[in-house]
Amino acid sequence: MLLSVAPADAEAPPSMSTLPDIPAPDPERQALARGLLQTPAHISAKYFYDQRGCELFEDITRLPEYYPTRTEKALLQARGGDIARSVGPCTSLIELGAGNCEKVRLLLAALQPQCFVGVDIAGPFVQAAVDGVAREFPGLEVCAVEADITAPVTLPAHIGERGRLVFYPGSSIGNFDPDQSMTLLRQMRALAGEGGGLLIGIDLPKDLQVLEAAYNDAAGVTAEFNRNALAHVNQCLGSDFDAAQWEHVAFFNAAHSRIEMHLQARAEQQVRWPGGARAFAQGERIHTENSYKYPLPLFLQMLTQAGFKACKAWTDSRDWFAVIHAKT
Ligand code: AVJ
Repeated sequence: MLLSVAPADAEAPPSMSTLPDIPAPDPERQALARGLLQTPAHISAKYFYDQRGCELFEDITRLPEYYPTRTEKALLQARGGDIARSVGPCTSLIELGAGNCEKVRLLLAALQPQCFVGVDIAGPFVQAAVDGVAREFPGLEVCAVEADITAPVTLPAHIGERGRLVFYPGSSIGNFDPDQSMTLLRQMRALAGEGGGLLIGIDLPKDLQVLEAAYNDAAGVTAEFNRNALAHVNQCLGSDFDAAQWEHVAFFNAAHSRIEMHLQARAEQQVRWPGGARAFAQGERIHTENSYKYPLPLFLQMLTQAGFKACKAWTDSRDWFAVIHAKT
């Protein structure tokens, strides 16, 4: 039986040979190109984290000037018991941006979850780290999920809905604008579910010299980390950035309470990629990262606004960093 008959005068669809041979750019590449074409140009901070970028970030966390990682680790170590008491029974511990899974190791003994899920944009990197956690904690069920956490995260089907603790350490929330952060906090609340919680680390405002030194280390590792984003962009977009032509710039923007990182063109130059190009003047910048520093009361207000109920916060003796437990 004929289901449909094309009218005799129907236009034939264009044949493949009439289509242009530039592949349709995926949304990811389109967003990347769009940011590069704006004035000022910007790229998402997620482009720091290719394999080399993950390794450079690990080096950053060990720098004498970079206080956040060691301050947060000391807090987790010292307050693990209090945190576990506040959390109560924990079935699944879900870490967003898990990276090398260094911090969750400090909580596993105290929290005793059945299962650990490491979520990160760098899939192979987090998989290797999660495998390491499994070797260290033999009774623990583990899995790695490669995902961009700005979209709602889908967990493997076997992860139950009860007793979830979402762990988002490192002040990684600081990479997002306040309104994006609110969206993210609401997503985390949904991910944690009823009777669940969020354990989140935030970097606090502090002395300008301390803040700026943390993003301008003497060894130049942060500069290397910043420039490496261009290599990753070249990989993703097929662009021809010459990283050596770009200077690392990082400073505290007090009006927005954030560290900004930029790359500044050492000389006038053209950058090309399939389907686009951008001219940069000498001294022109690409904005590569924001790292917001929230006063603790303001961040607690944001958590409440995102729908979290009771919050408990722990800070170090200098009030440089806070770890907060928020119940759903
Ligand atoms: C991983 C986003 C928390 O903002 O301090 C470190 C990234 N950038 N040095 C931060 C970073 C430059 C880091 N976060």
